[in-house]
Amino acid sequence: MKTSILFVCLGNICRSPTAEGVFRKKIEQLGLGKQFNIDSAGTSAYHAGEAPDPRSQQEAKRQGYDLSAQRSRQLQASDGEQFDYIIAMDSANHSDIKSIISNKYHGKLKLFLKDFAPSNGWECQPDCYHKASEVPDPYYGGTDGFSHVVQLIETASYELIKFLTVK
Ligand code: 4NP
Repeated sequence: MKTSILFVCLGNICRSPTAEGVFRKKIEQLGLGKQFNIDSAGTSAYHAGEAPDPRSQQEAKRQGYDLSAQRSRQLQASDGEQFDYIIAMDSANHSDIKSIISNKYHGKLKLFLKDFAPSNGWECQPDCYHKASEVPDPYYGGTDGFSHVVQLIETASYELIKFLTVK
């Protein structure tokens, strides 16, 4: 039985494709690729069918992750049943997911940094403007935001892998 993980943001072109790409690479590096089904989706259909934002692709590539094969899709009610873990990037995503998937699957829902960032407190960068529990939306900002997103996601991915693999 595979463990299935769905990363969710608003557009599925910046944060959740980055999370999918980073998490998949780390899982494959550990030789655990066959044990996981990894996907991502957006709470909106704004960018359905599109490749990840070029700025996300470029920054991910610079840090060693290839997002180019991914295409945006909207979160479906059926994802609630399909996936074991549904991981939101921010609290707006978290509440939007609850309105799309049935109540009976809300226990599968996590907030990525809040639930998986190190338990001894999150160290923000000096220019950090977001709540420590959220991966900030980089879409309307500069390139620094995209780099920060990759770093936040890398850290939380290590913690998620520990949670899933260390019994
Ligand atoms: P994402 O970023 O949720 O990380 O994919 C966004 C992408 C597009 C929009 C907002 C956020 N948009 O409003 O089109």
